Amino acid sequence: MVVLADPGHVAQGGRAVVAGSGVDAREIYHAGHPKGTAYDGRVETANAAIARPQRFRVTGGARLAGDVQVTGAKNSVLKLMAAALLAPGVTTLSEVPDILDVTIMSELLRRLGCGVHRDREAATVTIDVPQKVEHRADYDLVRRMRASIAVLGPLLARTGEADVALPGGDAIGSRPLDFHIAGLLKMGATVENEHGFIVAKAKQLTGATIWLDFPSVGATENLVMAAVLADGCTEIDNAAREPEIVDLCVMLGHMGAQIEGAGTSTIVIVGVDSLRPVSHTTVADRIVAGTWAMAAAMTLGDVTVHNANPAHLEIALDKLVTAGATVDRVDDGFRVMMDRRPTAVDAVTLPFPGFPTDLLPMALALNAVASGTAMVTENVYESRFSFVNELARLGADIRTDGHHAVVRGRPLLSGAPVTTPDIRAGAGLVIAGLVAEGETIVSEIHHIDRGYPKFDEQLRVLGAKIVREDDPAAGFG
Ligand code: EPZ
Repeated sequence: MVVLADPGHVAQGGRAVVAGSGVDAREIYHAGHPKGTAYDGRVETANAAIARPQRFRVTGGARLAGDVQVTGAKNSVLKLMAAALLAPGVTTLSEVPDILDVTIMSELLRRLGCGVHRDREAATVTIDVPQKVEHRADYDLVRRMRASIAVLGPLLARTGEADVALPGGDAIGSRPLDFHIAGLLKMGATVENEHGFIVAKAKQLTGATIWLDFPSVGATENLVMAAVLADGCTEIDNAAREPEIVDLCVMLGHMGAQIEGAGTSTIVIVGVDSLRPVSHTTVADRIVAGTWAMAAAMTLGDVTVHNANPAHLEIALDKLVTAGATVDRVDDGFRVMMDRRPTAVDAVTLPFPGFPTDLLPMALALNAVASGTAMVTENVYESRFSFVNELARLGADIRTDGHHAVVRGRPLLSGAPVTTPDIRAGAGLVIAGLVAEGETIVSEIHHIDRGYPKFDEQLRVLGAKIVREDDPAAGFG
């Protein structure tokens, strides 16, 4: 058993982030963190979850069947939590997914002076925003979760200053923030890069017309949140149209913001003097729902996905029909049935309403076991194919060239140890393991816990053979 001496020890032993300031690693351990559960919502335990690397042991061959419930979207709830900063008082969010990223955003808001209370049973988070909020978002949290950048717009709008650590790139791309910065400069802010921080200042932001070179989700969200308290009218052209953008704008509208055009390429915001806190229900997670749909098709299964909006997944579900699946709408979601080996289907990722880039790993995994050859094209991130080598370890026949991948389907993959480079690739590797012969060991699964609530438990309910265990290869046990 490893006895943790001091925070720095964690970093050495567990490939984890250095424990945040004020976190005593000994306290974590002695709290007797139960084995097998990811975390209990506090960032200390998030460190523990990462400091105790776990892995999935997946035995292939199971056919997924049954019902699965989707909760709120990670890529919406994190921005809704940041938007709460725009109004002093108590904001309550429901349909909050039980994921690591919500833990990290909760901690980020606490450090900005907010009271944050999560109720896991009720899947709610209550954020009590003080009159005076801090304006600095620390590196130890931002580097763990890029979505922390979503506090930039609200902090600048509320306090006139925002110091947000630069998140840097990750496994799927360099992910610069130039569109965010260019938009804020247009609204009259000064923006400097100081010691690894974006330091943005503006006594009063002013409305402006902003053209985005690419319909960036993050830039659209940050600029909308900056514009709601600005002086005058802001027009964002070539804006992102994702359902998560609409969800954010609906919440801001209930807070008293004046926004037109959410969900279209042109969003117009007329600034107001102040906003009020509200209660809001997070939109369902279309990427988690899409992952279940793909997994059902790959395993020749029959899965009904509840609390999912098929309209948010139209092109992905259509691809499954082309691959041979039957997709039926049900009252609160959809049902996917597949009774024969999928047929290879091409996919081209694009901003919404195009095929979501976050389902690319699932599209590659589906085509890896389909009959025929498919071309899968990635248009959003330059390094999203980086995990193809892990799929190849399972015997997938995939050749990449720039942002194209040619996938030659094989009747069966073969189980092997693989490593998760990011959230979606991790889910793709697990479902590929479901259709591989023998065992697949998927390590670094804290990435998956960041975006998929209770992934292994839900898979077991659907009949999958999957176990979560400590990862001895990472030096524990
Ligand atoms: C959001 O990321 C999601 N993350 C991503 O999901 C998702 O892949 C992405 O939108 C696209 O749908 C969250 O919402 C937390 P972008 P975001 O700004 O906002 C380039 C997941 O697994 N760009 O739309 O960072 C950028 O590099 C994650 O849940 C600039 O060049 O995405 C990328 O190539 C992964 N300059 C493209 O635009 C900028 O200033 C799209 O990025 C901003 C973006």
